[in-house]
Amino acid sequence: MTDNVGTDPQYDGFADEFLDHARDGFYNAYVDRPACLDLLGDVDGRTVLDAACGPGLYAEELVARGARLLGLDQSPRMIELCHRRVPSGDFRVHELAEPLHWLPDASVDLILFALAMEYVDDRPAMLREFRRVLRPGGALVLSRLHPTGDWLRHGGSYFDVRVVEEVWSQGWRVRYWLAPLERTCDELADAGFLIERLREPRPRPDAAAVDPRRYERLSREPTGFLAIRAVPRPGD
Ligand SMILES: C[S@@+](CC[C@H](N)C(=O)[O-])C[C@H]1O[C@@H](n2cnc3c(N)ncnc32)[C@H](O)[C@@H]1O
Repeated sequence: MTDNVGTDPQYDGFADEFLDHARDGFYNAYVDRPACLDLLGDVDGRTVLDAACGPGLYAEELVARGARLLGLDQSPRMIELCHRRVPSGDFRVHELAEPLHWLPDASVDLILFALAMEYVDDRPAMLREFRRVLRPGGALVLSRLHPTGDWLRHGGSYFDVRVVEEVWSQGWRVRYWLAPLERTCDELADAGFLIERLREPRPRPDAAAVDPRRYERLSREPTGFLAIRAVPRPGD
């Protein structure tokens, strides 16, 4: 296994299935989205960049809350689904290994980067780009798989930064980075961010009726996600 995920749009082949799964699915609808939306706060009238926007589930909610939405994803099919779902959004196919050359410095108020950090090889360069395009007073909200859950599934050293391949229960084959919490914090700091909040989201209370066993497990185990709100460090 090489330590590289690469730029092949791995979600393209199952973008429609991802939409069906994430729209009302336990992990996305009851754990990750509530946590990130809460960390984003009031988006009314704000310009939000939804980086790795997937099929537009976040975008739809953010536009309903009054945001002006810019979205990007490496998967052309995901971007088609976004255009269909959120006609007012400005979406484009973009690979996060490349600079955000289409965005001027200090041009967005908020960046959402949900459940995609794991797929990017050069995270420091990407985070510096996020820092560049954020306005002073803006914020980056990101979520990732909880590193404890990754370690329990994969074993070995929790502290190793390495690429793994998994076949998820839906049959999706995915390659992604494992990295300890410390690495994520260091990457944010090195790119000029201060962590304002770090959450280990538990399921929303109404999730208990959706799937009682998952609800009980994710309410006590750190095997879901992490969500972080980081702000540009003044003076950088
Ligand atoms: C787990 S999905 C999350 C989608 C969306 N953020 C959400 O939470 O509903 C991961 C998304 O990241 C996108 N992605 C992965 N690597 C990427 C990269 N290097 N550049 C841009 N998008 C990427 C995938 O195409 C996919 O849409």
